[in-house]
Amino acid sequence: MDRIRIKGGSDLKGSVQISGSKNASLPILAATLVVDGPVLLKNVPVLKDIDNMRRILTRLGMRIERESNGDLAIEAVDKTQYCAPYDFVRTMRASFVVLGPLWARRGVARVSYPGGCVLGHRPVDLHLKGLKGIGAQLDVDDGYVTASGPVTGGTVYLGGNYGPTVLGTANVVMAAVLGKGVSYLENVAMEPEIVDLCNFLVACGADMDGIGSHSLTIRGVEVLHGCEYSVIPDRIEAATYLTGAVMTNSPIVVEKAEPKHLLAVIDRLQATGADFELGPDYVRNLPTVDGKITAVDVTTLPYPGFPTDIQAQFMALMTGADGVSVITEKVYPERFMHASELGRLGARIRREGQSAIIQGTDHLSGAPVMASDLRASASLVLAGLVADGHTDVRRVYHIDRGYEHIEQKLQGIGADIERINDG
Ligand code: EPU
Repeated sequence: MDRIRIKGGSDLKGSVQISGSKNASLPILAATLVVDGPVLLKNVPVLKDIDNMRRILTRLGMRIERESNGDLAIEAVDKTQYCAPYDFVRTMRASFVVLGPLWARRGVARVSYPGGCVLGHRPVDLHLKGLKGIGAQLDVDDGYVTASGPVTGGTVYLGGNYGPTVLGTANVVMAAVLGKGVSYLENVAMEPEIVDLCNFLVACGADMDGIGSHSLTIRGVEVLHGCEYSVIPDRIEAATYLTGAVMTNSPIVVEKAEPKHLLAVIDRLQATGADFELGPDYVRNLPTVDGKITAVDVTTLPYPGFPTDIQAQFMALMTGADGVSVITEKVYPERFMHASELGRLGARIRREGQSAIIQGTDHLSGAPVMASDLRASASLVLAGLVADGHTDVRRVYHIDRGYEHIEQKLQGIGADIERINDG
């Protein structure tokens, strides 16, 4: 199993190029199920989660080829497949998002319920409520959900106790684009990844209004045609490198990013005393004289609020801030597994309900740590960049799910980082 070893304290400089968004690519890949005709997808990152989605779509009769320039050429070759088995869905919860498009295009879909998740309880009730609301007849047996019947359209309220659901919105939108009905979806997720999915579907001939707002009106069409489409930059990857730039007080430029998608994170980073230059497709960190940062409070919220997927990395930043910071998690109240691992490096963090309270310290020291999930592993890597001595991050397969070439990118800006294979 691989681990990542970081020797802290290097001076970082230069630029890092952001890859295409994982969380936009995954639903867009699933959306190719509703398309008749070839699709060419550009800017899809090379990641384990993308491989997982390719594997499941291949099983569902799609042909997906990565061309030499990195583009993905996709087309349906067998439209009779309708079952996504447990072994495929188990490896990646996001694969549950094939339910809507599979049902809409093939008339019936049978998809395994996803299993447990380290981020806490992650139900799919809103996905099912939404699909039912636009006509799906749902049956549950043997750990599988079967959706059948025509897509009729309908009015659906998609909000839950923790806000709108990102993949639940994607699941319903991908089904609502086909058929004879009109769907009015209220309190949908407004994340840029959902906007990207909607833009892709429109490029294929879907008919909808309200993209980027809380309400979508979707008029079903008979058929969607293929298209060429380029996925948005990964805002979470960009925000991770920006947080690292502030932690190390380095003149790093994050390139090929979309600054408009990063405003909540930039706002909180500025509140710590950091300063940036925002270009049309880049953000440059402007180092401060002493590199000191002030503790600030952060609450994660659905977009356009501060993303839960940057909470762990921001916590790593706050371990070195001047003062006390309160980080409150409103999207996944249990998402604090990284706190105790950061503690192994000397961070002073305690939990109180949905919050973590971080007392800044000016000294972290390297230690072996264990990644619990994708973003937790990124926070440990960032902490390793500023800790004294060596930090070994184990279970790095988590990081390979969502960060393309992380050690090469960090090496490229001067970090002392290597991947070690322990056999
Ligand atoms: N929820 C429900 N019922 C549902 C669905 C969700 O109660 O049917 C709750 C969840 O338990 C959670 C909240 O609603 O408390 C929001 O969950 P959401 O459905 O929005 O999450 P998701 O769509 O499953 C995506 C990202 C996550 C990201 C969240 C929130 C992908 C593949 N995953 O998950 O990304 O944290 O939105 O922004 O897009 C990651 O990339 O590391 C990651 C975990």
